[in-house]
Amino acid sequence: MNLQDLLDQIHDEVAAYYGQGRVADYIPALAEVPPRQFGMAITTLDGRHYRCGDAAVPFSIQSISKAFMLALTLEADGDSLWSHVGKEPSGNPFNSLVQLEYEDGVPRNPFINAGALVVTDRAISHFEDAHGALLTRLRQESGNATLCGNARVAESERAHGHRNAALAHFMKSYDNLDNEVETVLQQYFNSCSITMNCVELANAGLFLANHGITRDGLQSLSRSQAKQINAVMLTCGTYDAAGEFAYRVGLPVKSGVGGGMLAIIPGKMSIAVWSPELDSKGNSVLGLEALDRFTTRTGLSIF
Ligand code: DON
Repeated sequence: MNLQDLLDQIHDEVAAYYGQGRVADYIPALAEVPPRQFGMAITTLDGRHYRCGDAAVPFSIQSISKAFMLALTLEADGDSLWSHVGKEPSGNPFNSLVQLEYEDGVPRNPFINAGALVVTDRAISHFEDAHGALLTRLRQESGNATLCGNARVAESERAHGHRNAALAHFMKSYDNLDNEVETVLQQYFNSCSITMNCVELANAGLFLANHGITRDGLQSLSRSQAKQINAVMLTCGTYDAAGEFAYRVGLPVKSGVGGGMLAIIPGKMSIAVWSPELDSKGNSVLGLEALDRFTTRTGLSIF
C-alpha cells in the first residue's frame, strides 16, 4: 500500500470528526489554538518521510515530552528508576491524586503526572538542567536545532498548576522527590511547553522504533530499555484510554493535551499525529480515528 495515498485518504475521512471534542482549556494558553486542524507525519527506519494536512504546524507537545524525559532518565538511572515509579496502568485520569496515598507516594507509572514529576526529579538529579538536556536531545533527533519551550504556555500552566503542585508536595512528603518542589514543577512545565510539529515529532520518536539507536547511530537506550518504554507507552501512554487504544490502534502511543500523539511501530517507523480537539480522557479525537484507520488498513500493529 502506498503510505502517502493512505495518509491523504485518512486526512479526508477524519474531517468528519471535527466538532466532537474540545480543545484543552485548563491551561488557558492552550485554549487559544484553532480547533479545526489535523496533521500526520511518518518517518521510517529506511529514511522515508510522508506527511499530510497540518504536519508542519507547530503545537505544544505537552505529555508527549514524558516519553522523551523517561528515555533520558532511564538511560541515566537504569533499573533503579523503577524503585521511584511503577510501571502499571493506573486506570485513572492523568492528573489524578487518589492512588498516591494508598501507594505510599510511589506513582503507578511514568506517564501520569505524578510519575512524570518523579522522572523529572530524577533527571534533575542527573543533569541539573533536565529541560535543557531534553531540548538538546530533541533538537538532535528532530532535525530542528532551534526547538524550544514556549514560555507563555509554561507560565500559563504554572499559574493554573495547583494539582501538579499538590502531587509534587505530596510525593515530597514521602521523600520520593530529591529536589525542591518548585524546581521540579518548573522543569516539568517547561518540558511540557516544548513546541514541535508532526514532522519533527515523528523524526524525534524514531529511536524508539529503532530499538534505542539515535539518529547518529548511537545506542542511547539498550534494546531492552527501548522495549520497556514502548511497553509502558502501550499500557499507560493514553491513561485511562490505554485499553481502547490497544484495542483500536494496537501500538505504543503517547498522547498530550495539546492534541498530539506519537505512535511507534518497532522495527519500522514512527508516526506523529496532531489535532487539538480532545475527548473526555484528554486524547485527540481525530488522532485516535487516524491511527485506528492507519493500523487497520496497513495491518501494521504489534498484534
Ligand atoms: O501536567 C499537565 O497537566 C500538562 N502539562 C500535561 C498533561 C497532558 O498532556 C496529559 N495528556 N494527555
